[in-house]
Amino acid sequence: MNIKIENSISVDEFLELIESVGWKLYSRKQVEKALKNSMYVVKVLVDNKLAGMGRVVGDYSIVCMLSDICVMPEYQGKGIGKLIVNKLRELIIDNVLDGEKMQIELTPTAGNEIFYQKCGFKYNPDKVTGMYLWVEK
Ligand SMILES: CC(C)(COP(=O)(O)OP(=O)(O)OC[C@H]1O[C@@H](n2cnc3c(N)ncnc32)[C@H](O)[C@@H]1OP(=O)(O)O)[C@@H](O)C(=O)NCCC(=O)NCCS
Repeated sequence: MNIKIENSISVDEFLELIESVGWKLYSRKQVEKALKNSMYVVKVLVDNKLAGMGRVVGDYSIVCMLSDICVMPEYQGKGIGKLIVNKLRELIIDNVLDGEKMQIELTPTAGNEIFYQKCGFKYNPDKVTGMYLWVEK
């Protein structure tokens, strides 16, 4: 497998990836805005074919969040998800200055908890538990 990581993704590629894993689709306009406002975006190509992506949103200083980590079904189980998380983590760490710390948040979907634990994430560090709310119009 020839694996390449790039730091950008098109709206079409984003939509293709989320559709491949059965997530709800957003409008092109909403995706375009989300990508533009992301801290980091990575895309993985395997033999020049789109295989996975992930992104980070945040304030570049104190807190950020991993989002839209996904690998196309045919490429899952080959270490690509972990590669994406590690790359995003590297990009975040590069942004942290000496003496500073930054929190990386993450919401695993059911069934993927062990994957993120294998990527180094922990439950309830410092008694932090997550709460979520979707808003819709
Ligand atoms: C979750 C996902 C990103 C994992 O990517 P992947 O490329 O298949 O995972 P990797 O091959 O890098 O796996 C890394 C490790 O996690 C383990 N792992 C991966 N998915 C797992 C799961 N669902 N449950 C338990 N372990 C899992 C692997 O066995 C591997 O373990 P190892 O390091 O001991 O060999 C991918 O399955 C996916 O895109 N799923 C659909 C979209 C999704 O749900 N994304 C997550 C949203 S929170």
